[in-house]
Order: sequence, then C-alpha cells, then structure tokens
Amino acid sequence: MTVCSAPGKVYLFGEHAVVYGEPAIPCAIEQRASVSVEPREDDHVRVTAEDLSLDGFTVEYAGDGEERPDVDVPANLVEAAMGYIDHAVEQARDAADAPDAGFDITVESEIPLGAGLGSSAAVVVAGIDAATRALGVELDRREIADRAYQAEYEVQDGEASRADTFCSAMGGAVRVEGDDCEPIDAPNLPFVVGFDGGAGDTGKLVAGVRELREEYEFAADTVESIGDVVREGEELLADAEPGSEPSPELLAELGELMDFDHGLLSALGVSARSLDSMVWGAREAGAHGAKLTGAGGGGCIVALDPADATETALSYTRECEEAFRAELATEGVRVEEA
Ligand code: PMV
Repeated sequence: MTVCSAPGKVYLFGEHAVVYGEPAIPCAIEQRASVSVEPREDDHVRVTAEDLSLDGFTVEYAGDGEERPDVDVPANLVEAAMGYIDHAVEQARDAADAPDAGFDITVESEIPLGAGLGSSAAVVVAGIDAATRALGVELDRREIADRAYQAEYEVQDGEASRADTFCSAMGGAVRVEGDDCEPIDAPNLPFVVGFDGGAGDTGKLVAGVRELREEYEFAADTVESIGDVVREGEELLADAEPGSEPSPELLAELGELMDFDHGLLSALGVSARSLDSMVWGAREAGAHGAKLTGAGGGGCIVALDPADATETALSYTRECEEAFRAELATEGVRVEEA
C-alpha cells in the first residue's frame, strides 16, 4: 500500500483576483488529506472516503468511472468528491502509461470540504502522488502540481487557478500569477481559522465576480486593487526572516493588508454574514487582521494572532462552528507509507 498526504491552504491574499491574472499568496497549512492506494488485478477503482464532511462512503466502478452506485449520502457531494478522484486516477494512469490500472483508494481528510481550505486540491495532489508511486513511477512536485491543476481544471470547467494545487504540492507560502508559480520565503505566520460549518459555491461566486467586473469599471479596479494589496504583502514577506517568529510590527502590517483585502472581496460580493461576523469576532479579540479565505460565500476565515484570544473568541462566536490554529505547513505532498 502507498500512502501520501498533502496539505490544505489558506489564502493570505489574492483569491478571486488571481483568476484575472493578479498575483495571489496562498499558504499551506498543517491540516492534511491523506490518500492510500493499493493497485488491483483488474481495472476497477474502489474508493472509500472518510471525514470528507460526508458520513463516509465506499463506491466501486469499472473502466471509465461513468457508473455511480447508490450510496447513502447526497449525490452532489459524492459527484464532486468522485470527480476529483476520477481525474486524479486518470492523471496517474497517464503519467505511468498504464491506462488500465485499477486501484483500491482510501481518502481521509482533516480539511472541511468546499470551505476555502483547498480540500479538493489536497486530495488530488496526494492521490496523484500515491497512485503513480503505487505503479512504480515517481513524479517531481512540480509535475504533480501541474497534473493536479489539469484534474481540477476539468472538474471545475476551466474556472480553477493554479494556486491551490501548486501550494498543496509544494507546501509553505507560494506566489501564483497566471501560469507562473513559485515558492516564496515566509516567516512562521500564526494563522487561526474560523469555520462556519458551511461551504460556498465556487463556480457561482467566480461567475458573480466576472459579471461585476464586466459591468462596472470600478469592479475591475477593485480586482486590480486586490493585486496591489498582494504586491504590498509580498514585499513585507520578502523583508522578513524565513521561518522566524514574525515581529508584532510585521503582523500588524500584514494584518492591515488582510483587512483591506477582505473589504475588497466584500465589495465584490463574495463575503457572507457568517464570514463577516467571524472576521469581526477575530478583529475585536485582537487579531492583527482577518479575512475570508478561498471562494467565500460561506466556509472559512483566516486571522493572524500568535496568542489564544482569537481562537477563544471565535469559539464563542455564534456563526463559528469550529475554530482552530493552522500551522504553516513547510512540507507539501509527502509519502507517509511506501
Ligand atoms: O474556495 P477555494 O479554496 O476553492 O478557492 C477558490 C479561489 C478562487 O480564487 C476564487 C478560484 C481559484 O481557482 O483561484
């Protein structure tokens, strides 16, 4: 059996604007998805998923993965989860030149589904690495990132940026601008995440921003302003000692930019009452800054606070179902069991 894990991520800055070629800085976090793969004698794929915000399910199918057996969980969630796994399997078969390879796959994830923490990217990245290794092929991280992006691109009908998949494969903080993806140095940022228990519809939210941007020049300017926030933030990170504990001054400056970014995202219509409420809960508790992370509409916020106050305050915020600290994951995809 081959087991690989890959981290989820938060956006320090730049979601949505990244879709239009502005830079973004996602950071990998120590909440991981783990995928176990065992090759089979036939060409079937059998998938068992646990903790995918589902009650857990097992499905088995043959050949092209078109069949969807009855399972006792909502069809759209199974479709979404299975779509990512199907495409990861396709990428692994292609990379290993083994079009008929079959697998038993088990997915375990600590990352809430569709909540802005890159759950699908982590599953696809870990899945491609584990399945290719199980077939005796070792891909480098950049190729895993690229293949994972192709998989996400297909499932999401072309609306995916490279941010999630590159960040999950490489780990640490990364900078993504169009097809140009690079790891960047970052201090040890004290992320705190608040999760409202829900999820946003990424496709709809991205389409909403696209419409606003086409209708109003000031909306297009807002998207560009997010790019400006990211460029400011990048300079701050470049001046900091990599891996160090960040100074209060640096956290204050980064936090101010996060607050600004959240304001711009709200103007573009992708925040939600629950997200705003958690953002304000974090700020009032003394977080250096707080913003939604990912597509928005529901899901998670990320705040910066080296102390416990923000996590505690969020855990008492009515709209927050779960609050937790998210360490920056310096390691991207990795082998857990060969
Ligand atoms: O919610 P997530 O983690 O899927 O992030 C979506 C981020 C967007 O910028 C809105 C879209 C994208 O693919 O970059």
